[in-house]
Amino acid sequence: VQVLVAIDGPSGSGKSTVAKEIARRLDLGYLDTGAMYRAVAWWAMQQNVDWADTHAVVAAAQDAPVEISTDPDRQFVRVGDTNVTEAIRTPEVTSHVSSVATVPAAREVLVARQRGIIADSGRRMVAEGRDITTVVAPDAEVRILMVASEEARMQRRGAQLGGSQNAEALRAQVVGRDAKDSTVVNFSTAADGVITLDNSDLNLEQSVQAVMDLVLR
Ligand code: CDP
Repeated sequence: VQVLVAIDGPSGSGKSTVAKEIARRLDLGYLDTGAMYRAVAWWAMQQNVDWADTHAVVAAAQDAPVEISTDPDRQFVRVGDTNVTEAIRTPEVTSHVSSVATVPAAREVLVARQRGIIADSGRRMVAEGRDITTVVAPDAEVRILMVASEEARMQRRGAQLGGSQNAEALRAQVVGRDAKDSTVVNFSTAADGVITLDNSDLNLEQSVQAVMDLVLR
């Protein structure tokens, strides 16, 4: 089994930061699947794709030449010759990413690509997203649903964005995106065999330790 640790969870649950740190400490590869959905959304925006046209969205998922690093210490995302590592985190891309993620055929394209990346990497991995424990790698050795209270999640997301966004606007965006995403993927209740880890009251180091305990037990 190539995926050692699979982590799913909503926005601001801290899954990306924790997953990356686990990969570093255990010398594993790291796959941020959300970055791939973001890269497709970025590409579709460049192509002026009509978001209501699901065929065009699927075509964008198929055609976008997305390349993603699986090195936790050297993360980057490229689309063709363009390094989009920063660009995929803008509010514009964030606001459109659910329009990719809620198209089932677009998800199939990305899930297949994610499995390919995992297989080709030739190393064991930590993979993270919304459907890793259930769809991408249900055979992962350790499967975790990372959750946190809405309050904790808003605080983290706000801090990540450098306090540049109004708290209510941020809440509306995050809650809205989670609601859209959960129409196609269930990441609010743990599937069979998936361990729920609530880190509302844990800091980063404690969250990392909690996952390490599950991996090393
Ligand atoms: O910003 P945040 O950490 O919440 O999300 P992300 O991991 O960067 O993922 C961005 C978006 O990609 C999510 O809101 C989902 O729409 C989509 N996504 C997905 O549908 N399935 C995944 N496995 C990962 C991300």
